[in-house]
Amino acid sequence: MIIAPSLLAADFTRLGKEAGRAAKSGADWLHLDIMDGQFVPNISFGPAVVAAVRPLAKNLFFDVHLMCGRPEILLEPFAEAGADEIIVHVELGEKVPQLLWKIKLLGKKVGLAVNPPTAIAEAQPYLDKIDLLLVMTVNPGFGGQSFIHECVPKIQQADAWRREKKLSFRLEVDGGINDETAAECARAGADTFVAGTSLFGARSLKAAVTKMRKAVHAADPALADLAVAP
Ligand code: DX5
Ligand code: ZN
Repeated sequence: MIIAPSLLAADFTRLGKEAGRAAKSGADWLHLDIMDGQFVPNISFGPAVVAAVRPLAKNLFFDVHLMCGRPEILLEPFAEAGADEIIVHVELGEKVPQLLWKIKLLGKKVGLAVNPPTAIAEAQPYLDKIDLLLVMTVNPGFGGQSFIHECVPKIQQADAWRREKKLSFRLEVDGGINDETAAECARAGADTFVAGTSLFGARSLKAAVTKMRKAVHAADPALADLAVAP
């Protein structure tokens, strides 16, 4: 399993220290939410911030989630800033094939995200071209929202397709993830867990990561409770 704290929930007055805290927490990845004020009604941070924190969390895989209307102009800047994976949204429609191809050409892992109101079938044509499928479990734009349980069947469907087609993309969930909802998603087939508020909001990030790992492992013992390489 992969546990990925989301920097969006960190203390922005001390981002460097927060990245360092994540680096020592036992987490596998750092999730970076990029919002452009167009695709979602919020603005977060850009490539300069990602580049600034990159050297402070060298051991973490940088999972960059682009909630942006024109990601085509941002792929190179985020690749240069230190992204290991770049996720774009399936809601961008006809742009998607080219975006996935460009991310691959940049030598980065390829991620595709699906918003709660979007049918999981929209992602089906791309499953053999991606390294990770992100099933959003809140409407993107803000941290601290409640998990939408109606998204769970989409995780089950994606996992069923993965088995049927013998594919190996990771199945990630993002939004309202805590120990209980992570366990629910693990039972549905998720293996990669993004959590902002429940991890960065905890007094000890390290203890919170360990506790989430245990909850996921208890829900699905097939998911190893040790950190695995990305
Ligand atoms: C939501 C973002 C999430 C967010 C999750 O738009 O994509 O990654 O940081 O935050 P929590 O875990 O607080 O719901
Ligand atoms: Zn995200």
